[in-house]
Amino acid sequence: MKDGTCQSYESNCVIQQLYKSIVPTVSEMTELDVYSYICWVVMVVGVLAFATTMIVTAPYGRHYQSNNNSVTKDGERRTNWGPKIPNRLGWVIMEAPSSIFFWHIYRLGRFADNTVPLIFLGLWQCHYIHRSFLYPLRTKTSGKQIPMLVVFLAIVFNLVNSYINARWISELQSGRYDHDWLLNPRFIAGIFIFFVGMIINIHSDSVVINLRRPGEEKQYKIPLGGAYRFVSSPNYLGELIEWGGWALATWSLSGVSFLLFTATNLVPRAISNHRWYRESFKDYPSERKCIIPYIF
Ligand SMILES: NC(=O)c1ccc[n+]([C@@H]2O[C@H](COP(=O)([O-])OP(=O)(O)OC[C@H]3O[C@@H](n4cnc5c(N)ncnc54)[C@H](OP(=O)(O)O)[C@@H]3O)[C@@H](O)[C@H]2O)c1
Repeated sequence: MKDGTCQSYESNCVIQQLYKSIVPTVSEMTELDVYSYICWVVMVVGVLAFATTMIVTAPYGRHYQSNNNSVTKDGERRTNWGPKIPNRLGWVIMEAPSSIFFWHIYRLGRFADNTVPLIFLGLWQCHYIHRSFLYPLRTKTSGKQIPMLVVFLAIVFNLVNSYINARWISELQSGRYDHDWLLNPRFIAGIFIFFVGMIINIHSDSVVINLRRPGEEKQYKIPLGGAYRFVSSPNYLGELIEWGGWALATWSLSGVSFLLFTATNLVPRAISNHRWYRESFKDYPSERKCIIPYIF
């Protein structure tokens, strides 16, 4: 960028030129304006998704069967969620864009080589390399499937979410993340909270994954220990804490919109999981809450 003019050979201008060629009216707006609009749209869509998922639980995992609405002649249940693919493959396909696309957008930014943005890049990749490539391999879900519609919707969200967060971190923050940010209490507390959430999330996922022995891919048991002493979905609680830490450390609209969207997605599912456990196991611990220890 020279004298405010975008030179076509500068990789950082590619996204701005793309805007102008796709939607001419956007040329009146700065990229920061567009970024803000997208963040607000994500939050509005999150609220709409919350209303929807309070009624219809996303059909994967334990809720895959419960959304079936017809039975074939030989008694096999059939879903109305369209084509399906193997569960593990679905997780890789829907989560990998968060790692790969984030990196591609991140590296276009002017501040991509600065210390604080690099730390944010590291946090993001810690979560998403695990979620996309390690977590699916650890699950014991052979033979299970996931609707392609769920995978598609997740990909769309992950692309948009990666764009706004990566673009903010490496470009649109306009130098806010200088070396002083390393000592900012929001940054220090946010990083700490992020890792606390990540530990709770990964440990809780491990507890339920380890409940199954080989050949028990379709069985469910009551998880015990760790944060399961307090809530039915501590992995979701950990995930929310993680992105709460991200929002605090980055102090950004994209961080807040991601946190809100995650909450609108995971809280209804946690409610469904809690109800499902209580209906499925007569001896389910009565003192265990849904997602917030001692409260909800
Ligand atoms: N950021 C977001 O918006 C978002 C959205 C969704 C998920 N996530 C994260 O992705 C991870 C997985 O989510 P999820 O909804 O699949 O979690 P989940 O329902 O707790 O399942 C996690 C794994 O454990 C198995 N499992 C769960 N409960 C079990 C039990 N009682 N007995 C035996 N096995 C059990 C599941 O098998 P089955 O698949 O066979 O049920 C699955 O392989 C979580 O860490 C979550 O935070 C994030």
